[in-house]
Amino acid sequence: MTAGLPYANGNLHVGHIAGAYLPADIYVRYLRACGRDVAFICGSDDHGVPVLLRARKEDVEPQIVVDRFYAQHRTDFAGLGIEFDFYGQTSSPEHHEISQEFFRKVLEAGLLVKKSTEQLYDDGMEMFLPDRYVQGTCPHSDCGQPGALGDQCESCGRTVDPMELADPVSVLSGNRPVVRETSHWFFKLPELSSFLETWLEGHDEWRSAVRNFALGLVREGLVERSMTRDLEWGVPVPIEDAGASGKVLYVWFDAPIGYVTFTSQWCQEQGKGGDEVGKWWKDSDTRIVHFIGEDNTIFHAVIWPAMLKAEGSYCLPDQVVANSFLNIHWPGESEEQKISKSRGTAVWIKDFLSENDPDPLRYYLTAIAPENQRTTYKPEEFISRNNDELVATLGNFVHRTMTFAHKYCGGVVPEEEISSEADLDQIASVERLPERLSEEIEQFRFKSTLQLLMAEARRANQYFDASAPWKTRKEDLSTCRRTIRACLQTVSVLGMVMSPILPFASARIARMLGREESSWGWEYSSASLKGGEILGEAELLFRKIDV
Ligand code: 2FM
Ligand code: ZN
Repeated sequence: MTAGLPYANGNLHVGHIAGAYLPADIYVRYLRACGRDVAFICGSDDHGVPVLLRARKEDVEPQIVVDRFYAQHRTDFAGLGIEFDFYGQTSSPEHHEISQEFFRKVLEAGLLVKKSTEQLYDDGMEMFLPDRYVQGTCPHSDCGQPGALGDQCESCGRTVDPMELADPVSVLSGNRPVVRETSHWFFKLPELSSFLETWLEGHDEWRSAVRNFALGLVREGLVERSMTRDLEWGVPVPIEDAGASGKVLYVWFDAPIGYVTFTSQWCQEQGKGGDEVGKWWKDSDTRIVHFIGEDNTIFHAVIWPAMLKAEGSYCLPDQVVANSFLNIHWPGESEEQKISKSRGTAVWIKDFLSENDPDPLRYYLTAIAPENQRTTYKPEEFISRNNDELVATLGNFVHRTMTFAHKYCGGVVPEEEISSEADLDQIASVERLPERLSEEIEQFRFKSTLQLLMAEARRANQYFDASAPWKTRKEDLSTCRRTIRACLQTVSVLGMVMSPILPFASARIARMLGREESSWGWEYSSASLKGGEILGEAELLFRKIDV
């Protein structure tokens, strides 16, 4: 499993988390619970113009910038419970070596060709202006939006050649750039287009938005794309050629190779030999799944698979799960807007975690997951869903069950066998839950997974209410104890199946039930409690948030 490598030029906000990292973490936690052998790989995308722009703004070396954001990203991910097996950096020497080797292999396969080409150049700054060093109007006639970046238009999501931008402007000087001759290595994508078309057609299990977008690009006709840049910062072009000096690999060439590098570094860290990486990347039994934000689709569903095919020794991705992004609607504002760093409309993870627990955010971002289209983060809705759903429904059920278990059942799972129809129905309902959730999770439908989970929690509260253990404890204690046994069993199953989405609450439930978190798998039987098991102390599962 991989999640798109975040650029090490800025902090993480809720949009990043909802787009790629949280769905990936949920899926990984689920697979682990099922006992599958998983490597969860990510790291920072240290190269590229975004990092250079930031370094320039701060007047420091790019390495200083990327090391700082690398550390902050790690802290943010850890705070949210997003646990990668390995989190690397593309500026590492290991990555330079592996991506240079990859480049050489594609060159040897005859799929990279050196060509002389025209590029935009800033006369005043005396430098070429690749990618985001220029902005202008989107050249795609059905879009035509201003503010398109030199590599990609954020309005229509398509890639852009800076030479085609209408009215280009140098981001460095604000001047209109001039055109100059240079040479670059171009990836012969057209030669791979019939392969890509067949391969994409074979993946009808993908989300249709991802597959159709990628197939559309291939059918529209791919063009040769330059995979090198006139820049100092990046992976040096690894060939003995006068034209290669002062050039680096295009950031979108080296970045996805980071998935391989970091897997290899992870294998080495565990003392496993170099061949181990082949188990993950070269064995046809491995499934490679990429979680990304939708703006990365072209790179993961078209260019990266083409690179892998050209290199020849690695497996291709089995799934590319792309999510859309979040808008944000601030209280008191008339309209929602895109999350934007420059306009200051982001909710930063660092800030969020300084005042809040991670699970409520994981909950809310899953509840509003932008799985098929943009959705909206509303701070007031975050609070109300925490208070009404996590606290008043899920937390309340666990709390009342634990309270009764300690007060009227001596802090152990009651020995009384469940027998009434209502009790048996309740058990039958939770017994089916793991499998019902599996069906959703395996189709990457995390929002509906959460809906099913919460419907079960509501059902459990209704069962508690209808059974009225506060009455039966006075009239017939053994009936009360049977109810509580069924409720404890429900708490245990809920605790197990909430673990991918709400790992911190799940761990608290495990403690309350007096068990090891690791004793849970994904089978009903692994969550089943025996009469007489000693419970742990009751803990608060979720906190009410004050508006
Ligand atoms: O869009 C981004 O943030 C890129 N840095 C994602 C790179 S994903 C991968 F290919 F490395
Ligand atoms: Zn556009």
